[in-house]
Amino acid sequence: MRPLVAGNWKMNGLGADLAELATLKAALAGDPPACDVLVCPPATLIAQAAGQVEGAFAIGAQDCHARASGAFTGDLSAEMLRDAGASAVIVGHSERRQFHGETDADVAGKAAAAWRAGLLAIICIGETSAQRDAGTANHICSGQLDASVPEGATGENTAIAYEPVWAIGTGRTPSDGEIAAMHAHIRACLVRRFGEGARAIRILYGGSVKPQNAAQILGLPDVGGALVGGASLKAKDFHAIIGGVKAQ
Ligand code: PGA
Repeated sequence: MRPLVAGNWKMNGLGADLAELATLKAALAGDPPACDVLVCPPATLIAQAAGQVEGAFAIGAQDCHARASGAFTGDLSAEMLRDAGASAVIVGHSERRQFHGETDADVAGKAAAAWRAGLLAIICIGETSAQRDAGTANHICSGQLDASVPEGATGENTAIAYEPVWAIGTGRTPSDGEIAAMHAHIRACLVRRFGEGARAIRILYGGSVKPQNAAQILGLPDVGGALVGGASLKAKDFHAIIGGVKAQ
């Protein structure tokens, strides 16, 4: 299983910022990564980004609508994202769940749409700090997994991103033991539901991944990569994080 290091630019990035992708492309050409690399810029930049990186690494989106087309003003379908050059889409990010009221059922619909369009669905789950303090983190995450991941998930069509809400953009991360324990829990839930084939589904860790902690986190058992927000905006930092994946 080749790890996946994915960058989520969120609502950041104008045309001028595509220069970061050119820098990253050049850096990776001189230092081939030991993982798959994906950058998810805002949708406005997907086509330009895909044209610019020319397959040196993958370009993805941050959200999609569940339907292929229709009267949904302002929304984008997975087919449109694919057509623009995306090969993956993040669904169910906690910011979508929080600010757009997305439910697990909405997220499952988006993941199924991603598959329909031939995109890798990166399905996000994660507990809040109150839920962790209450000792319900495992329960919350298995509930999100059950209801946000549609039937038919495989290593080819799906990656799970475990992103504790309290670690996103805060500079705080769980301990190594907490990350390893949650990833083992997620793996067990996936195998119970989808069988042994679910061992091929990559489980990414996300939340305050930086050049300083990347190698440590990426080396933990059952951590199949990272979903990186703030530190993916600068090619130098993101390249250093990618370098945290050790060649197998
Ligand atoms: P962060 O964001 O790396 O800035 O904490 C991660 C994410 O939200 O995907």
